[in-house]
This record gives sequence, C-alpha cells and structure tokens, in this order.
Amino acid sequence: MPESTVGKANIGVVGLAVMGSNLARNLASREGNTVAVYNRTFARTETLTGEHPEAGFVASEAIDDFVASLQKPRTAIIMVQAGAGTDAVIDELVERFEPGDIIVDGGNANFHDTIAREKRISPTGIHFVGAGISGGEEGALKGPSIMPGGSEESYKTLGPILASIAAIAEGEPCVTHIGTDGAGHFVKMIHNGIEYADMQLIAEAYDLLRTVGGLEPAAIADVFSEWNKGYLESYLIEITAEVLRQVDAKTGKPFVDIVLDEAGSKGTGVWTVQNALDLGIPVGGIAEAVFARAVSSKPTQRAAVQSVVKSRPEIQKVDASFADDVSKALYASKVVAYAQGFDAIIAGAEKYGWNINKDKIAKIWRGGCIIRAQFLNRIADAYDENPDIATLLEAPYFADAVAEGEAAWRRVVATAALSGVPVPGFGSALSYYDSLASKRLPAALVQGQRDFFGAHTYKRVDEDGVFHTLWSGDRSEIQTTGSSH
Ligand code: 6PG
Repeated sequence: MPESTVGKANIGVVGLAVMGSNLARNLASREGNTVAVYNRTFARTETLTGEHPEAGFVASEAIDDFVASLQKPRTAIIMVQAGAGTDAVIDELVERFEPGDIIVDGGNANFHDTIAREKRISPTGIHFVGAGISGGEEGALKGPSIMPGGSEESYKTLGPILASIAAIAEGEPCVTHIGTDGAGHFVKMIHNGIEYADMQLIAEAYDLLRTVGGLEPAAIADVFSEWNKGYLESYLIEITAEVLRQVDAKTGKPFVDIVLDEAGSKGTGVWTVQNALDLGIPVGGIAEAVFARAVSSKPTQRAAVQSVVKSRPEIQKVDASFADDVSKALYASKVVAYAQGFDAIIAGAEKYGWNINKDKIAKIWRGGCIIRAQFLNRIADAYDENPDIATLLEAPYFADAVAEGEAAWRRVVATAALSGVPVPGFGSALSYYDSLASKRLPAALVQGQRDFFGAHTYKRVDEDGVFHTLWSGDRSEIQTTGSSH
C-alpha cells in the first residue's frame, strides 16, 4: 500500500452498499474526518471513490491495507447486512485490530447477538460497539439518529465522531451513549417497534378517513399536511401525505391504489414483541402493528373469508367533525404506543443491567430517525420532570392530552367497529388504556378459573396470604404456603 495512506484516516467504514456509502460520505463531509473505506468487492469501492472525489476517501482493496490506513485507536464502522455477514467482517477485523481499537456494528443487529459478540471480543481488549442507526438512506447521508452501546471508554473516542454526523435537534446532536454491550441495538429495536405502531396507526387513520369519511387520497393528503402543522407533527405524517398525493404514471390512479396491500417486514418489529413478551411487558400497540402486517400478507385466508362473508356492515354516517375525531384518536393511540415502547426500554434496562436515560433517548429521537417528531420533546420533559413515573400516561401533559381526546377516541373506535373497518391499533390502544384505568379487571375471574382447574391459588382483596378453594371437595377455602402467581 502507498506509505502515504498509513494511519491517515480517523474512521473507517466497511460495507459500501447504500447505507454504508452514505454514512461514509456523511463522515467525510465533516470537518476533521478522514474516512477509510473498504468493501469485499472492490468494484463498489471504486464506484464510490470515483463518484465522490470530493470526499477524499482512503480506499483499500485489501483488508490489511484498510486496517493499516486507520489511525490508532483504530475505529471502524461495519455497515453490512445483519447476520452471518457481520460475523465474517468482525472476525477479519478482530484478527488485525489491537487492544483499544473499536469495532462498531452499525447494522440492525439483534441485540442478543450484540451482547454475545461483545462478550466474545472484549477479552481481546478490542471494544465492540453495537450502534443502532436510524433514518434510512437519507438519514445516513445527511444526519441519522444514532444509538451506540458498548463501553464508556469506547464512547470517548467514538462519541465525537458520531456527534459530527448525527442529526441536530434543537441544537443537540441526536446521539448519546445508551448503555453497555447490546443497549444500543436494544433501543434501536424498540425504536423500530414504535415505528411499526406509528405507521399502523397512521394507516388506520387513512382507512377511516377514506372508507368512513369518504375522502379521496389526495384530500386525505391535505388533511395529513394540516395535521403536520399541529400536535401530530412528525416525519411519518409528512411522508404519508406525500405518498397519498402520489399519482401512478402508468394508470393515472392514486399510487396507494396500485400497490398490493400486503405489508412486508424485515424482523425488528417481531423482535420487539418477542422480547417484550419475555420481559412481561404489554406492547399491544406494537404487537397489533406486527400482526396487521402478517394478516395483510395472508391472501389465501383473506380470500377464504371474503368468499363466505355475505354482506359487510353499512358504513356509519359521520359529519365534518370526523377528521378531527380521528386526529384525536390517532394522538391518544400514539401516546399509548410510545408509553408501551418506553415500558419495554425500562424493563430491558433492568433485566440486562443498563443504566438507561429515558429523556436522553426521547431527545435523540427528535431528529434524524424515522419516528422523529416534536412529540418526543413532551416525552423527554415527562421523564425529565419525574424519571420514575410508572407510565407515560401518568405524566400530566399526556394524562391531559388523552383525557381531552378520549371521547373522540371512543367514537372513532365504535364507528370503525360498526362500519367494519379494522382498527387493531386504535382498538388495542383504547383497551389498554381502559384496562389501566379500570378499578376492577376480570383478571379476578381468570384467577378463579385457574384455581378451579389447576389449583393455581389466588390472593384476596381483604386479607394477606395465598388461598385455594377446594373446588372438587366441599368448596371451602384453605390458606396455602406457596405464593400465588
Ligand atoms: C430506520 C428504519 C430502518 C428500516 C426498518 C424497516 O430506523 O431507519 O427502521 O431500520 O427501514 O428496518 O423495517 P421493515 O422492513 O421491517 O419495515
């Protein structure tokens, strides 16, 4: 390799598909960064360096040269498809890096893999950092929201580099050290779960405005653009308006009408729900969003039911205030989905021993990422005021907002049910809220059933202890020594 490139770059990027290339270009555009680039297929590296001479990339064809081109402590961000490919690249770098060097996995890795990788690599003295990066291709280029895990020590080197490329929200870079080992990828996973829920809720709002409200996509786009000026302001609302305004060039129809209605997924929403189940955290809003995609992608079952359904309910008549009702229902449901996501973060932090700062997470989600919105300021304020609130729904701002929209929320869910419009997101959010708000739940009856068939025991409302009724005997009650669960 040319002697002139040895130790020249302060940061390297491995994997130059769109996300990697854009992140490398973003890094190169910031004062003080010299960026080394490496890709398994050199042609891709040449394309990038050829198209972007201004970036001054230090390109290497061989991994040894790439490693040599990095200043110490060497810092390399891996941007390859999550999975086996990531391990192969990590192994190549671990072989060549030295204690104190830093390997960053910037893909959408499963945080369990990140924890295992960190455990495997840390004895070598090399820092392994799993960093969630959100914002899609454009975010990678112009400023993503970054959620790095890994050691405190690695963040001393990495923090300023990541801060140089992150989005800026209200003067602050959208990056913070989330916690050790897999914390960054865990929080990115929850971000994606919330992203699924938010998208599903917006999609339900669209369906209601169209099916019940009788509006065409272009008119709904206008409604969403209006909403984007108020409390619902968010990147997802903004892009939804653009998608709805799009007209298909081939047919002249609204774009949304020519797209097959089967939603795909790459897995992070499923991970969120799986992990929330393991943590015992109800994330119904996120789960319903994952299930809604799954239902949409079952054409055989959909066709089978459609073939036996004789008639569909009559669409309810609504007046001009319907759109306003839907906006309130959307907001209240959104508050629930975010509250559930933060509950999962709190439980994950406790289980995995991460010292997570909730208001900082809300702050780094204000810019760059897919769920970016003003709304995140309210969440940051709520946790800033009282980090120990039991749920975001308890925070005065959200309690008031939900109370204010509650009647509209109920009208919308009822109208949807009567009209046969599926609203799994709105409906489950409302049921979750009602469950928390109810003084008594039928869980008491479930306990009775469990005790009846399995002697699972129960607690009483009026006396301490654990009890069992002798259901197959004289039905008298006995106090047991075990614990009721
Ligand atoms: C982001 C996105 C990004 C990706 C999702 C899409 O934060 O930039 O979340 O990570 O677009 O993985 O997920 P699905 O393909 O599962 O919808």
